[in-house]
Amino acid sequence: MDLSIIVPTFNEGPNVVELLRRIGAQSDGRTFEVIFVDDSTDDTPQIIQAAAAASAFPVRLIHRDFPDAGLGGAVVEGFRLAQARWCLVMDGDLQHPPEDIARLLRRADAGDVDIVVASRYAAGGDSRGLADATRTAVSRLSTLVTKAMFPRKLAGCSDPMTGFFLLDRDAVDLDALRPRGFKILLEILARRQLRVAEVPFAFAERHAGRSKASFTQGVRFLVQLAMLRFGRMSAFALVGGLGAIANLLIMWGLIRFGVEYLVAAVIASEVTIIGNFLLLEYLVFADMRSESGLMRHRFLKSFAFNNVEAIVRLPVMSVLVESAHVPSVMAAALTLVAAFVVRFVFHALVVYAPRRSAPTPPAREPVAVPEGAGGRTLDA
Ligand code: GDD
Ligand code: MN
Repeated sequence: MDLSIIVPTFNEGPNVVELLRRIGAQSDGRTFEVIFVDDSTDDTPQIIQAAAAASAFPVRLIHRDFPDAGLGGAVVEGFRLAQARWCLVMDGDLQHPPEDIARLLRRADAGDVDIVVASRYAAGGDSRGLADATRTAVSRLSTLVTKAMFPRKLAGCSDPMTGFFLLDRDAVDLDALRPRGFKILLEILARRQLRVAEVPFAFAERHAGRSKASFTQGVRFLVQLAMLRFGRMSAFALVGGLGAIANLLIMWGLIRFGVEYLVAAVIASEVTIIGNFLLLEYLVFADMRSESGLMRHRFLKSFAFNNVEAIVRLPVMSVLVESAHVPSVMAAALTLVAAFVVRFVFHALVVYAPRRSAPTPPAREPVAVPEGAGGRTLDA
């Protein structure tokens, strides 16, 4: 077997037959298999099974009854089951044209890389298939910030968010991956320095069905980024920061409805304390839940701690409200945050940009992943 094509699917029934037809039309004499790793809640598995029975090449279906880690988890599952050493990952909605697979394979044939990434943002690539201007802006901005956070590991990759790539499975340590949500390529590239090549491609329109991207996936991505870069503590800080913003928004809304500000502050705090706990449970400490007893016990401890903290905070806040104008403080906070981000991006991408002529780093240099650090890596 020369190639395993891994396709994660979530309710992609109407795309299956067309995807297999276009993959089949591409075969250039190499032996390959297609593995669908499916988390669907509709009749997609039956459609895949029927298509597999009629297919001229091997098509395998793994339906996960207990989907773990979403799209990223599905891809890792595919790596584990793949029969070939080289694995191609692509979406099941034909936004990744099967006609481009041959170019990825030819690039890998040169034998000097561990991964070939199909990039929308490399010269000659095209991201117009993204749903709208907002999606495009979010994609561009998150790519920029992500590259700034891993200036060396992602130096050779213009599109760490793509879901279309060809990987030498032996170059990664599958057990070290902590997939969460959509961005599995980022997880792979950030863990270990790989030799990366890129092939530009045009991100197409969806063939049928609807995108599964969502705001929740966006939050998951931020947590993934924080975990990869700075370990669990920063993911914790991120969730705390989001909670603080939610707290202020709720308080502002209640005050507008005529609620007295101290009462509004109490309600906003209780709501965010509960929300924070849920985010910690399902995002930051998701991997530790099974070993830390009952959820309601964790909740009671978290709730009690946060309320003690809030009780200490309230008198301090009332002093601030009496003596300072909140809008100006808000404005100052926003400009400070914005300046921080810009300063960070500029230093990482411009001031400390890797030299163009620098020799390529040694291949497959494993990076230490300290226990209990939530998979902290050193981008050095
Ligand atoms: N097994 C499984 N489980 N598959 C999933 C899940 C899940 O929970 N969620 C989504 N998928 C599958 C979809 O069925 C599709 O085949 C593929 O993952 C991508 O999902 P889309 O819903 O098409 O999302 P997208 O088009 O917004 O995202 C694509 O573009 C991003 C770049 O903008 C994907 O390629 C992402 O990987 C990529 O990062
Ligand atoms: Mn898609």
